[in-house]
Amino acid sequence: MVFQPEPWRVKVVEPIRLPDPEERERRLVEAGFNVFDIPAEAVFIDLLTDSGTSAMSDDQWAGLMLGDESYAGARNFYHFERAVQDIFGFPHVVPVHQGRVAENLLFSTLLRPGHIVPNNSHFDTTRANVESNAGEALDLVIEEARRPDADHPFKGNVDLERARRLFERERERIPLAMLTLTNNSGGGQPVSLANIKAYAALCREHGIPFYIDACRFAENAWFIREREEGQQDRPVADIVREIFDLADGCTMSAKKDGLANIGGFFASRDPELVETIKRRLVLIEGFPTYGGLAGRDLEAVARGLREVLDPEYLRFRVKQVEAFGRSLIQLGIPVIRPVGGHAVYVDARAFLPEIPPSRFPAQALVVALYRQGAVRGVEIGSVMFGRTDPDTGDPVYADLELVRLAVPRRVYTNSHLQYVATVLEAIRDQRDRLKGLEIVHQAPVLRHFTARFREL
Ligand code: F0G
Repeated sequence: MVFQPEPWRVKVVEPIRLPDPEERERRLVEAGFNVFDIPAEAVFIDLLTDSGTSAMSDDQWAGLMLGDESYAGARNFYHFERAVQDIFGFPHVVPVHQGRVAENLLFSTLLRPGHIVPNNSHFDTTRANVESNAGEALDLVIEEARRPDADHPFKGNVDLERARRLFERERERIPLAMLTLTNNSGGGQPVSLANIKAYAALCREHGIPFYIDACRFAENAWFIREREEGQQDRPVADIVREIFDLADGCTMSAKKDGLANIGGFFASRDPELVETIKRRLVLIEGFPTYGGLAGRDLEAVARGLREVLDPEYLRFRVKQVEAFGRSLIQLGIPVIRPVGGHAVYVDARAFLPEIPPSRFPAQALVVALYRQGAVRGVEIGSVMFGRTDPDTGDPVYADLELVRLAVPRRVYTNSHLQYVATVLEAIRDQRDRLKGLEIVHQAPVLRHFTARFREL
């Protein structure tokens, strides 16, 4: 089917409001042209992230009422544990309130100064957790991933030759290897089953534990089913199980493919590692049967993890994002290809070639999206990754200037996304008016969250 209608109907509605042009202008000025500082109530279509923004199903909402809020051994923990064991096959399950806590627990337990953690691409919290434990986060994604217009069905794949050379040279410095499904930092691109198998085999050959960052595991499995030879007609759950049978464990943010608003877990086959992690968990999150979550949240995740494997849901999900990307391509708006699983990434450098990186073209587009239609996206370019060279004092810019338009799960209809396309079309027709911005205030780290700008 070319046209893919939503495989759900609406039972509860949440009003959203399009502020008038004067209010949008005022909000931008008050926020110093940083959309992180605009109250969500003044945003009409919010594509800032797909994380924690999902709409839960009637079954999940019903599950909330069955929350057992006992301190220890709540029944919902056992539902949660069983769901993770059934789907992923790992015997030991440690709940956490979101994905980065699982990363923190894993890396603070296994890493020593000078260690290296390979990955296709580290997400920024993963990188930060590796680096804050004095490790080095190394990205080994295939070269095609660095070119926005290079078409490749599995642009999240690991460069296996680089991985082999690294493992042979540095085995002693590698306490574990990671793989991110889908590869968020590279545009939400999937990893093929063949690549996962080969990477896992390489890890096994060198005795390196293999862990998966599983945030978008179901979307990745769906891409395998759609794009990889011999995988059509397989139940998604089978593909998922085959993937995770290759791994020693995983970290997970259930705020993505858990279809929940909060939650996550660490899971592993290694009982000693899990015991150490549980001791740390009690210090920073809570008792091992709730890990920073209410009983009702555990229930929502337990149900969401099973629901996300529904092929009707996944077909719609991936097609919706793809159709959104295609509608932008038809309007002549350059986007990363192929379109990823959870977001469309606009190539702002190609869209606004007159604005040099020193004037932040992607941030200029983020501001234009809000000004034109109260749409919120996020800059992934030189505001986020730019810095000052410590030796020369010169500014260093990002490789790519992107605006990520992340699509929350089951929240916006196709018509909402069409609206966003019309907003971008209007910006396209007057793009020569955009001049870029300069930073007037910034924090020493993670400056994109709080920077303030002046328009040029
Ligand atoms: N790993 C990946 C691949 C992610 O995309 C994220 C979060 C995390 C780990 C951390 O999970 O937020 O639950 O602590 N990504 C969000 C995003 C924030 O907008 O892409 P968390």
